[in-house]
Amino acid sequence: AYTAKVGPSILSSDLSQLGRECERMMECGADYLHLDVMDGHFVPNITFGHPMVECLRRCIGPDPFFDMHMMVSRPEQWVKPMAAAGANQYTFHLEATTNPGNLIKEIRESGMKVGLAIKPGTTVEELAPWAGQIDMALVMTVEPGFGGQKFMEDMMPKVSWLRSQFPSLDIEVDGGVGPDSIHRCAEAGANMIVSGSAVVSSDDPRSVIALLKNAVIE
Ligand code: DX5
Ligand code: ZN
Repeated sequence: AYTAKVGPSILSSDLSQLGRECERMMECGADYLHLDVMDGHFVPNITFGHPMVECLRRCIGPDPFFDMHMMVSRPEQWVKPMAAAGANQYTFHLEATTNPGNLIKEIRESGMKVGLAIKPGTTVEELAPWAGQIDMALVMTVEPGFGGQKFMEDMMPKVSWLRSQFPSLDIEVDGGVGPDSIHRCAEAGANMIVSGSAVVSSDDPRSVIALLKNAVIE
């Protein structure tokens, strides 16, 4: 009931060439782009905000789907700026808000799809009440903040449970996902695959993207 999609995370790419890097990923068969926004507060790292997204949108054209992974303490604050900048999906962290219902509504009203993310320490039962109102659930498979960390296999029961309860929900995995861990994710029922370092630092990103995608379709 769902499709397999691969969204490279450009966090580990040459950030001085971000537009070019995003184009390269799309040329290599990426289905969407996963853009990691960090505020130095929700996570101990800083990346970029909506001005960068606006420039990227202008550079890359209207088609590529931008999945904004908002690792920020006040997700309410960036909904309108991100929509105006050309974001397509706004994925916020359940841990970062006291009123997910209102935020979901605001994201929809601004014309974006809604993603809801949980950190490794957050249970899937906490996400479940919102699952019927969102487009995508993001199960983090590392502590958010940095690319290149080790995949946490013990997050897979969250994915399996969500898949069993919500057969048509998009379920994304993010963190340490690559050729070595994709089969765990696919078995559990993830269908939106974020991969950073495994894709970006490969000599042959096209093959890695194809491998990840085919693992999920099988
Ligand atoms: C981590 C980010 C991820 C990360 C993925 O906080 O949310 O998107 O960049 O990179 P890899 O695949 O290298 O773990
Ligand atoms: Zn991410």
